[in-house]
Amino acid sequence: MRSMDASERHTTGGRSVREQARDHLLLNFTDMGEYAEAGSKVIVRGEGCEVISDQGRRFIDGLSGLFCTNLGHSYGAEVGAAAARQLETLPFTPAWYLAHPAAAQLAETLVTLAAPLGMQRAYFTNSGGEAVESAWKLVRQWHAANGEPQRTKAIARKLAYHGTSMGALSFTGLPDCRAPFEPMAVPVTFLSNTNAYRHPAGADPEAFTRALLEEAEEAILFAGPEQVAMLIAEPVQNSGGAFVPPPGYWAGLRALCDRYGIVLVADETITAFGRVGEWFASSLFDGRPDIITFAKGVTAGHAPLGGFLMTEAMAAPFVTGGETYMHGLTYSAHPLTTAIASSVIGIYQRERVLENVRELAPHFEARLQELRRIPLVGDVRGMGFFWALELVKDRETKELLSSEEADWLLRKELSRHMDDLGLLCRLDDRGEPVIQLSPPLVSDAAMLDRIVDIVGTAAERAWNAWNGSIVPAADPRQLPLRSRGKLGAA
Ligand SMILES: Cc1ncc(COP(=O)(O)O)c(C=O)c1O
Repeated sequence: MRSMDASERHTTGGRSVREQARDHLLLNFTDMGEYAEAGSKVIVRGEGCEVISDQGRRFIDGLSGLFCTNLGHSYGAEVGAAAARQLETLPFTPAWYLAHPAAAQLAETLVTLAAPLGMQRAYFTNSGGEAVESAWKLVRQWHAANGEPQRTKAIARKLAYHGTSMGALSFTGLPDCRAPFEPMAVPVTFLSNTNAYRHPAGADPEAFTRALLEEAEEAILFAGPEQVAMLIAEPVQNSGGAFVPPPGYWAGLRALCDRYGIVLVADETITAFGRVGEWFASSLFDGRPDIITFAKGVTAGHAPLGGFLMTEAMAAPFVTGGETYMHGLTYSAHPLTTAIASSVIGIYQRERVLENVRELAPHFEARLQELRRIPLVGDVRGMGFFWALELVKDRETKELLSSEEADWLLRKELSRHMDDLGLLCRLDDRGEPVIQLSPPLVSDAAMLDRIVDIVGTAAERAWNAWNGSIVPAADPRQLPLRSRGKLGAA
């Protein structure tokens, strides 16, 4: 392990980085008072699948940052060299009325990877939310070009997160995120998501699919089929906790969209680039979307880049039909970020990262399913390296925790134990309370075991506290040898 250099000694002008962060940063979706009270944690460095705090504590990067550090933290020098070459060659030229090699090469690489899904052309943005919003604008113009400018409504799903800018927020089915900004820019109807654990028909996959598709069709008919422009959904929905679709669901969405002339958008901001072992998760679900949005994994977090892929039919009005896509971002297809993405995709291929996910997913799943032994764990769901554990008050009845109980469990208990044991993951109660896990795609079996063991220990400790039990929870140092690691080393 290399020693810390001056920039990591955490003082500038006599003030610690914690003080600087506490006093001058405004963090995303963060109660800054709580952040200050909890000590204003700062991460200064990454190594492999871990990150290291300013106090030298190591944490497993169990959520891949925010579902993006798919390569962990070991490839910065290689990606940085590609970035440096690009900056030496051409730091910037706009992708407005001309192009440059980094963007053109990446566009070709992406449509080649997505060729089985019929994708033909790419548009680049700086983030996932921008990708969603840019896709929406293309969809609106596409319908207008086809003589249907009245298609102005959209269909999305409850609890789904599609971004926070006013357009993308319209499709985000999280009431707390929307409430301060109502009314929304786009009229959207929200459908049930694919949470089998909570849906009345969830235990029977066929009946579940049927119920979901009937609900979707009713919503389309109610909105007025000739007014609906787009249906947007993630192949595996993140928010709410890794909702996998039941068999036939995406094929059913495709059929509905065909029947009513609606554009089907798969938001693969998280699921693309290996999260579930494929370049694009859509290839697993027979949905044949018209548009795929992506971000995060395309650069594995090394640079802010997003975008969307479209079929030839979606691109046609803008390529051969005389229409102009009335949309632009100065840094769309930036040479730096697109060069970084090509370097990252090369690493995915060379290091057989998708194969790693496919090989280890069954092991990860089996280990996670063992956690059902803890009475707080009601459901364990997900696929690939994308999992969630739903926490309940009573496993037999699936009784929900009240919001105070969920708050206590996630914020007071589990977050303390996870911190103590050295795991960064997401404890989310935007839907029912869930522990979300999304480790770097380069994790080996030992790393996945460490994650599961920490989650198990933390959940056991929380369960003991819930019960007022005096039985001490397992100490990670007593865990089986294969699971040992530098847990929260000081
Ligand atoms: C499915 C999905 N869509 C869109 C977004 C928004 O991406 P960004 O934060 O890059 O704008 C996210 C972010 O997590 C996401 O998970």
